Amino acid sequence: MPGELTVIVLAAGGGTRMKSKTMKVLHPVAGRTMVGHVLAAVQEVQPRRIVAVIGHQREQVGPHIQALVPDALLAVQEEQHGTGHAVRVAMEAVAASGGVAEGTVLVAYADTPLLEAESLRVFAEEHEAAQRAVSILSGVVSDPHGYGRVVRNDEGEVEGIVEEKDASAAQREIREINSGILAFDAAFLREALPKLSNDNAKGEYYLTDTVHLAREAGLHVGAHAIADVLQTEGVNDRVQLARTGRVMNQRIVTRWMEAGVTVMDPATTWVDADVVLNPDVTLLPGVQLLGATVVGEDAVIGPDTTLKDCEIGAGARVVRTHGELAVIGSGASVGPFAYLRPGTTLGAGGKIGTFVETKNSQIADGAKVPHLSYVGDADIGPGANIGAGTVFANYDGVQKHRTRIGRQAKTGSNNTFVAPVEVGDGAGTAGGTVVRRNVPPGALAVSSGPQRNLARWALSKRAGTPQADAAQAALDAVEESE
Ligand code: UD1
Ligand code: CA
Repeated sequence: MPGELTVIVLAAGGGTRMKSKTMKVLHPVAGRTMVGHVLAAVQEVQPRRIVAVIGHQREQVGPHIQALVPDALLAVQEEQHGTGHAVRVAMEAVAASGGVAEGTVLVAYADTPLLEAESLRVFAEEHEAAQRAVSILSGVVSDPHGYGRVVRNDEGEVEGIVEEKDASAAQREIREINSGILAFDAAFLREALPKLSNDNAKGEYYLTDTVHLAREAGLHVGAHAIADVLQTEGVNDRVQLARTGRVMNQRIVTRWMEAGVTVMDPATTWVDADVVLNPDVTLLPGVQLLGATVVGEDAVIGPDTTLKDCEIGAGARVVRTHGELAVIGSGASVGPFAYLRPGTTLGAGGKIGTFVETKNSQIADGAKVPHLSYVGDADIGPGANIGAGTVFANYDGVQKHRTRIGRQAKTGSNNTFVAPVEVGDGAGTAGGTVVRRNVPPGALAVSSGPQRNLARWALSKRAGTPQADAAQAALDAVEESE
């Protein structure tokens, strides 16, 4: 970027059409707030300063912006009197901070999450090269309804921007619209802002009137039409929010495919902006990778899997699983139908199998919980195997306790571990054991009493039923053979 650049991001408007208690620019798209996307694009351009104009719900919006861009200047617009007023408030905040905006001032909106840094950069560079007082990032759209129209004279030169509500019938036919993103010569902007009037259909100070003021002063103005108009599309309601989300997702998924990830069905694969995928990852249909999820090389995820803030090791296999804040080791296997709750760690080559729920548990390298189990607050040692249908009873109704299963321990099916309890290294438990006391290393725990068989029980207690008939037939056959 040759000259000095100040970027003003407008985020003061209420966004009533969202019909939400959450401020519009805080709604997420691909796991990031809308304003978060805009700030990320703006930061990539490396401006001298970023000024954010906040108003509605500024107690939420302000700290959010500060967390993302700590050195952003926050300008409070108490009442929203239009885009011209908002930019004036921003310029006053710069002055109040002891700074002076020089070179170029770029104005962007916080509700256009699809805007890309490269477009901003090219726009600002063109503006500077053309030595204009004002440049408009415009777009040619099939339906210009609601936008300000770019009015040109017979020579094709930009004359001004007219807002929908102030436009004549003929002007409303114009399909070149103002995206809202404008670039200014800083000195011109400072002079023009106090000259804006609110004598218009909305009774607002329109930033767009600066174009006309520049023309009157004999200064250069111009419009730069962006080819990908979607980038400048603002989100006003939840229908646009969904559409923008889909476009953003397509962009993200395409980028990962270009980077060497196989995505079998991009339309049903949702990847948040901050997810990291490694080469030769395969995503099967119906996968959502959310938050700060990271997937290692050669891992195969899906179908039908949601992972939020998870770390999946290289070569792991995760099938029909829901996971949050879990770490899965390399070459491990998860699912189908597993539920990984926060604090789950599975070691390399380990297994969390079918219909298994895990929480706050460390399952070490090569350890396996293959079937139908609840594993809560457990430490399972390397190479241990947990039998089918095991419950780690971690909760006594008041407090949670931990269970420790030793290295290479083999526990039987349908066990209950009543925490706190420990099973030693190399120990075992018989099927159906309720483990209430520690099991020493190498011991076998058996808690159920010896089995009693009540002979001919079905014949007397279930007489006349198919069960009794079957029993009778089997007993007769034994008698005959004797
Ligand atoms: C504005 C433009 C219009 C353009 C359109 C593109 C003006 C006068 N009009 O119209 O030419 O085609 O955007 O979407 O600029 N804001 C504030 N403070 C205010 C007013 C607005 O921060 O006092 C913020 C809003 O939160 C929003 C942005 O500025 O992010 C645009 O405001 P909005 O009222 O939506 O402008 P439009 O009428 O859509
Ligand atoms: Ca708008």
